[in-house]
Amino acid sequence: MKKKIAVLTGAGVSAESGLGTYRDNGGLWDNYDPMEVASIQGWYKNRKLVLDFYNMQRAKLKDTKPNAAHLAIAALEKDYDVTVITQNVDNLHEKAGSTKVIHLHGEATKVRPENGVYEESFSEREVIDVGYEPVNLGDKAPNGCQLRPHIVFFGESVPKIEPAIDVVAAADLLLIVGTSMQVYPAAGLYRYADPKAPIYVVDPADLPLHDPRITHIKDVATKGMEKFIKILEER
Ligand code: OAD
Repeated sequence: MKKKIAVLTGAGVSAESGLGTYRDNGGLWDNYDPMEVASIQGWYKNRKLVLDFYNMQRAKLKDTKPNAAHLAIAALEKDYDVTVITQNVDNLHEKAGSTKVIHLHGEATKVRPENGVYEESFSEREVIDVGYEPVNLGDKAPNGCQLRPHIVFFGESVPKIEPAIDVVAAADLLLIVGTSMQVYPAAGLYRYADPKAPIYVVDPADLPLHDPRITHIKDVATKGMEKFIKILEER
């Protein structure tokens, strides 16, 4: 049986594909207020602003290609049972060929009907793949409700956290790539790793990592993944 690798990724894995991160200098949250464009309160305040923000994010993905880090993660499937848990709303892991991807924070290419007070109790059957097309105010789902981005807004719970915890807990090794580990519950996932499972972090920044199981490969995703693969081969 193949050994299990859980891979947790954040915006940094897609940085070298040309997608900006959120919290680095010049990142998305320098130019947009997340509470206006990516929170449930922001949605109720100004749906058009939120739809336009995600229309822009979605359109960018059309010509964006996976980089060597996404490809290296997908290639791990040859020898390992790999599940990617990504905080990213882009589709670059899928474009790279990863077959098991859990999108903790939703997907920019998908929408679903808004649901009023039951906003978070949607069914997967209601989710619509719109590819790279814009969605506007007045665009309705078959049930007559306004379409909203299939994104976990700030202020909403994270329905995929439970399957993600199970994947991390069952993994023989955890690899974390390109996340500032500032947004919970994703940032706390590594705590569920088996005490015997090594944890590798690929990120160029100094991160507040206080777990003795963690080896920090301090580099960008593409170069860091090359180093990680070497370490894996030598283990
Ligand atoms: P952040 O922008 O918070 O962090 C990006 C991380 O990527 C930082 O640790 C950088 O050091 C690292 N980084 C930058 N360039 C890199 C490169 N070339 N290679 C590897 N790493 C690099 O992004 P996330 O941690 O993903 O949620 O943010 C988590 C969540 O906060 C996002 O999913 C998003 C955001 O608000 C929602 O919108 C719901």
